[in-house]
Amino acid sequence: MTEIKTKILGTGIYLPKKVVTNLDLEKVIDTSDQWIFERTGIRARRICSTEGGEWPTDMAMHASWKALETARLQPNDIDMIIFASVTPDQKLPNSASLLQQKLGITNNCACMDIAVACSGFVYGVNMANSFIKTGMAKNVLVVGSEMLSREVDWNDRTICILFGDGCGVGIVGRSEEGDESQILSTHLGSDGSGKEFFNQPVGGAVEPITETHIKEGTHFMRMKGKEMFKVATRTLADNAKIVLERAGMTLDQVDWVVPHQANIRIIETTANLIGISMDKVIVNIENYGNTSAATVPIAFHEAIESGKIKRGDVVILDAFGAGLTFGATLLRY
Ligand SMILES: CC(C)(COP(=O)(O)OP(=O)(O)OC[C@H]1O[C@@H](n2cnc3c(N)ncnc32)[C@H](O)[C@@H]1OP(=O)(O)O)[C@@H](O)C(=O)NCCC(=O)NCCS
Repeated sequence: MTEIKTKILGTGIYLPKKVVTNLDLEKVIDTSDQWIFERTGIRARRICSTEGGEWPTDMAMHASWKALETARLQPNDIDMIIFASVTPDQKLPNSASLLQQKLGITNNCACMDIAVACSGFVYGVNMANSFIKTGMAKNVLVVGSEMLSREVDWNDRTICILFGDGCGVGIVGRSEEGDESQILSTHLGSDGSGKEFFNQPVGGAVEPITETHIKEGTHFMRMKGKEMFKVATRTLADNAKIVLERAGMTLDQVDWVVPHQANIRIIETTANLIGISMDKVIVNIENYGNTSAATVPIAFHEAIESGKIKRGDVVILDAFGAGLTFGATLLRY
């Protein structure tokens, strides 16, 4: 039997309409555009409407239409949805099933959510790759969609300046015989010993949200920024080296790295550790901040749309997040 190969068939994004700049934040918390930009590289972020129409599955629906169009597929061609998010619309049912309905998919395809924070899209792509290679699925819709604006404490200047909302989608499918576009190697992992660096313990089964939490603001995400910074750079650099090694390839064969967008200084340090020029690194953090599972697909899609990443280019998708989860995908687009 010939080996099944996979590729990215299409991508799409949705960005909420509302733009919140650092200057807007200056008016409500003790911070400055200069501090935020110098320490993080962020100038603005998008924030979902709380009136409806921009919930994580709505954003995913819009991004999916675009991805289906580029992949030249119909909704019912999708036979699996992997929805990566730590901010799902609701606890039950899962967001993938809600999205299936919104897209009008009637083939009862498998629908699953994965909660692996900022590594979500890369986890989804690598899982899709495996499902397709084993023949379990043919066209997998992989979504990273987040509404982090609901989960950050807007009174805490150490965290709220970093995050934003948005969605990116990729469709993974078969790479036919003779097609040079394909996923070349994958890597996934997690180090649970880093759970104290970035977490949100309140609101789960162990500690449901009470009035006291709401009064004290203890139900929001908590992060040790400095610790996250250090582990992020090392992990992102290791990820890139591992996928190259697995494919038997070298850095000089790589055209682009699309890293998780958490902080421009993390991205620059990582590029330095990998030994790749920043000219080959896709960066859009200035406009959107950290959108968790959505950063990699948004940056990837924008780089394709702008003509930077072309069919045939060798790309590393590289991510890291709370967990501490991590992963990378090496592909020829
Ligand atoms: C959060 C982060 C930007 C902080 O940058 P930093 O250079 O480590 O800054 P520090 O935390 O040392 O703070 C320096 C000073 O700025 C202050 N400060 C913090 N946030 C501020 C803000 N938004 N505006 C102005 N000042 C701020 C601090 O209170 C501190 O003041 P002090 O020196 O008087 O105590 C940085 O650590 C980071 O990006 N970490 C990674 C976080 C991340 O990406 N997590 C998700 C990964 S998936």
